[in-house]
Amino acid sequence: DAAEKEGYEHFMIKEIHEQPKGISETLMRRLDKEDNIVLDGIKLTNEDLENINKIYIVACGTAYHAGLVGRFAIEKFAKIPVEVDVASEFRYRDPFIDEKTLFIAVSQSGETLDTLAALREAKRKGARILSIVNVVGSSVARESHDVFYTWAGPEIAVASTKAYTTQLTAFYMLALHMATIKGNMDREQYLQILKELKTMPEKAQSLLKDFAEIQHQAAGHFNNESVFFMGRGVDVHVAHEASLKLKEISYINSFAIAAGELKHGTIALIEKGTLVVALATQDRLYDKMLSNIQEVRARGAYVVAVAKEGNKEIEKTADVVLYIPDTMDELSPILSIIPLQLFAYYVAVARGTDVDKPKNLAKSVTVE
Ligand code: G6P
Repeated sequence: DAAEKEGYEHFMIKEIHEQPKGISETLMRRLDKEDNIVLDGIKLTNEDLENINKIYIVACGTAYHAGLVGRFAIEKFAKIPVEVDVASEFRYRDPFIDEKTLFIAVSQSGETLDTLAALREAKRKGARILSIVNVVGSSVARESHDVFYTWAGPEIAVASTKAYTTQLTAFYMLALHMATIKGNMDREQYLQILKELKTMPEKAQSLLKDFAEIQHQAAGHFNNESVFFMGRGVDVHVAHEASLKLKEISYINSFAIAAGELKHGTIALIEKGTLVVALATQDRLYDKMLSNIQEVRARGAYVVAVAKEGNKEIEKTADVVLYIPDTMDELSPILSIIPLQLFAYYVAVARGTDVDKPKNLAKSVTVE
């Protein structure tokens, strides 16, 4: 066990550190010399895509949160309508599926029963099944028409970290690939996004160098009864994943909301000292996010913001800022989750929980 942890105290922190490598493997193994994306023999021709009028992304837990970012990327880059659902709900709502549906299952283990059952249902109704899976040869992989493997390597900690960032990488690649096949992204734009995607391992690495501030914040907040996460645009999805990380290993009551929804309820819960983690990485939505931060601060909240490097202005509004390297708005989830995984980890360590095996949770849920 100690040898497998390679000197780290827990698998979770080891796996957090393995993210640059996982992202890089997932990406670089699928680029040819001309920077074209080559997807493990997945054949998606223009004709195939013309025949697809809808994509369903279905998953559970962290993989579901990756799917939410996946929807954002596919709709934005490839301009195909996408729905995302948790597997346990999808099956029971009689979804509209036929031969023109592409069903994307996302699963680290490839053994989650709800995801598998949803996949079978979609297959029975004639959908084409593509899965994004980490474990080679797993049930989800075997039952899919096409498989996109995330090269995260074995993930041991129950709280998923490197599987998530490699799932995001997979979705960006799929979205770019679909966009070029469909011809709705020119080569220049494609190369520009790809070039930025290729900087992700290095940028993720830079986030793993110095986390004194994160440890300091964790030390100051490990006794909190509740924590709120908020964001706008793709940041909302990161907020959900960050909140899940915190609650599953620290047992703190945390939840995430779209910042625009604050005034429709959650703001009633904000009082002096409430910790609000505000993701503010989206340039387009930045001003709106800033006013949401002001709203909660005016009610006494302590705000930890996540923002892009170079944004000094936010320091005037938030109590603390955790910076991520500057990047395109669309790709920021790969980076912005990292300080929040670390925050969850250090809070849990301070509370003395069983970080790698939190109570009541399993790595892979093979029951309904
Ligand atoms: C469990 C794990 C989560 C995971 C979810 C889905 O709840 O604790 O970390 O996100 O299952 O698992 P999968 O293997 O399908 O990605």
